[in-house]
Amino acid sequence: MSNIKLDIINAACFLQPGTVEAFEPKVKAAQEALENGTCPGNDFLGWLHLPSSITDEFISEIENTAKVLRENCEAVVVAGIGGSYLGAKAVIEALGNSFEWLMNDKNNPTILFAGNNISEDYLYELTEYLKGKRFGVINISKSGTTTETALAFRLLKKQCENQMSKEMARKVIVAITDEKKGAARICADKEGYKSFIIPDNVGGRFSVLTPVGLLPVACAGFDIKALVRGAQEMEAACGKDVPFAENPAAQYAAVRNGLYESGKKIEIMVNFQPKLHFMSEWWKQLYGESEGKEGKGIFPASCDFTTDLHSMGQWVQEGERSIFETVISVEEPNKKLLFPSDEENLDGLNFLAGKRVDEVNKMAELGTRLAHVDGGVPNICISIPRLDEKYLGQLIYFFEIACGISGNVLGVNPFNQPGVEAYKKNMFALLDKPGYEAESEAIKKRVGVEG
Ligand code: PA5
Repeated sequence: MSNIKLDIINAACFLQPGTVEAFEPKVKAAQEALENGTCPGNDFLGWLHLPSSITDEFISEIENTAKVLRENCEAVVVAGIGGSYLGAKAVIEALGNSFEWLMNDKNNPTILFAGNNISEDYLYELTEYLKGKRFGVINISKSGTTTETALAFRLLKKQCENQMSKEMARKVIVAITDEKKGAARICADKEGYKSFIIPDNVGGRFSVLTPVGLLPVACAGFDIKALVRGAQEMEAACGKDVPFAENPAAQYAAVRNGLYESGKKIEIMVNFQPKLHFMSEWWKQLYGESEGKEGKGIFPASCDFTTDLHSMGQWVQEGERSIFETVISVEEPNKKLLFPSDEENLDGLNFLAGKRVDEVNKMAELGTRLAHVDGGVPNICISIPRLDEKYLGQLIYFFEIACGISGNVLGVNPFNQPGVEAYKKNMFALLDKPGYEAESEAIKKRVGVEG
């Protein structure tokens, strides 16, 4: 069984010798606390052994629901924000064809995302695009009350019912939400939609291996059994009884906390495959929302290389030395393309003729990592054999368990997000939402808006 691999040599060398090893007791204690449910936020640990608890029957139920959508829809819109969309988006982008949206593939519905912004232009253009199309909606919200998602869903539900029929809409609208509470649950029960439950003890950003991620991924035509299998393999590889030096999640948690304590406040997640752009976005939410609290936490940033070497590369090479990089290195591409020879050689690139494009990319990657290490940027490398369902499942669980450990080592509750409420309170007050009268008056005065 091959696994994703972690290499911290080029990061640990920036720390005093023995620093990573010295984290072992803290990391072990953090992992014990997660296992025993004695850590802060212990009512949100349902993700910890989620992969090994997923049954074949449950996967079949998701696949059967996906089949209904795939058979009846040219497009499926996933409405959700934060943890209710980023995981699915990350997996679908990583596995999908970069130009799928141009291909008009009759066998595969186009998967679209909404409810992750409040842009009028975006929603207008989406509703225009969907005009005349057979489309379904997966409405995802754990709380069932998130404004961005609810707003998009109201528009999409109406359009779906008008364009198809109320009866057909019932067949192609699926809800993924709380078992009992929230507007999404009330609506699903009233309309008789097929629905899945987001377990109470699984927070949004840890929910990609629940129907939140699995249903959209299955709708896109990918193998969710393999995705879950990969996660199960990583659950075993990062278990609490795995020795510290052999446990990649423990090592990652230790080295990044060591770097943070040494003044490296920013971690840049780097890829050399544009398909991984949204994996970084998912990772940013996972780590940012889990660790950024109480005035603490590494700032999670991301770059797509080599693209961003022509924009951010200068900063990374020579800017303030407060950063470290974590590179996701894909060992083998899924497709093969050789660089052609050219008689005239006007571009001077004949020295690359006959080589795979990936060989050039790999040398760019190696050269970049060396240059950045030479420039004072610690480098962590996560190798993934190739982009397929199994290895993405491994990567997802690896980041989740490492995040749980790392947040505990940092001394925060990684499973809450109290800071997210502040903007909502102001927005509702400014919009005169009932119940916010007192805040409305105060905030309007502050920004100089007439009541
Ligand atoms: O990680 C989290 O809990 C959040 O980012 C949520 O996923 C996000 O706010 C969406 O919430 P909900 O699923 O309740 O609509």
